[in-house]
Amino acid sequence: MNTETLASASAEIEQKGFLDLEVDPTLDLFAEIERLKKEKNAIVLAHYYQDADIQDIADYIGDSLGLAQQAEKTEADMIVFAGVHFMAETAKILNPTKKVVIPDLKAGCSLSDSCPPPLFKRFKEQHPDHVVVSYINCSAGIKALSDVIVTSSNAKIIVDSFPQDQPIIFAPDKNLGAYINKVTGRNMVLWNGACMVHEIFSLERITKLKVQYPKAKLLAHPECEEPILRIADYVGSTTGILKYSQTDDAQEYIVATETGILHQMMKASPGKTFIPAPPDNGCACNDCPHMKRNTLEKIYLCMKYEQPAIEMEEELRLAARKPIERMLEISAKAGL
Ligand code: 13P
Ligand code: SF4
Repeated sequence: MNTETLASASAEIEQKGFLDLEVDPTLDLFAEIERLKKEKNAIVLAHYYQDADIQDIADYIGDSLGLAQQAEKTEADMIVFAGVHFMAETAKILNPTKKVVIPDLKAGCSLSDSCPPPLFKRFKEQHPDHVVVSYINCSAGIKALSDVIVTSSNAKIIVDSFPQDQPIIFAPDKNLGAYINKVTGRNMVLWNGACMVHEIFSLERITKLKVQYPKAKLLAHPECEEPILRIADYVGSTTGILKYSQTDDAQEYIVATETGILHQMMKASPGKTFIPAPPDNGCACNDCPHMKRNTLEKIYLCMKYEQPAIEMEEELRLAARKPIERMLEISAKAGL
């Protein structure tokens, strides 16, 4: 690619967050993405909340922990991250010599945005004897202020690794934090953040669905609010929810997390019925607007032009890496 094309691509990315070049509508995007994977020695990592077509072209689909583990160990030259910004940033922190591209730089996260580093730094200073445990859904700036990172699949194990009398700040998700307080018997100080997707499930509409489907089990992500978690049959990460639905013998499930997960649930258990838990805004299902910014076209373009790419200052990267490494070590010891 010549320098002029690169310069105009960079300007467009700065303005829009992604490349908006015309993609030939007759192009077989599945075949083109496969071709680019080979040509560039690239791997596509996708979160379960991505659209079904993106999951279908991915080399690995997983929850936040699985994605971080894959990103750390891959030997591909380019990591194409079909997820949101904090996930791609984590991949770059763990594997800095690789090019990490994201289809849309503006694929952010309301939970991550709810915790700006300068405010959190002041909050932390008010609790000098506390260790900081942060959910992976946060910026590199917050990770750099943390002692250890957790995901929804290892939060309990990691919090349990601290002595019971160790004071802890948990950030940024107050719902996951409250859930971990409950299951560990702790009283962690919680940052007041939440996910826009998980905090709008309607208890009333879910209760009505349970009456309509009396045999259905409710599976909920711990980012949901306490009244939903209290009535759930299973609470866990996206991978946990998927595995539970595969091994459990019920035939019907109400699923209280982002709807993208239903694609793998239906593929794994085609005979079972999966009902997305309804939100309280009148809609039938819950999509994350950030996750859903990614499209096959944007994946194709970011692979072709190798942009937008994640970059960060080395000092910040090193500070953010430490607590993630600690998480990966504890998880590996626990067999996760
Ligand atoms: P997990 O896939 O790790 O459960 O996380 C869910 C989520 O909200 C990611 O943004
Ligand atoms: Fe963030 Fe919630 Fe979207 Fe996950 S589902 S990326 S936590 S806004």
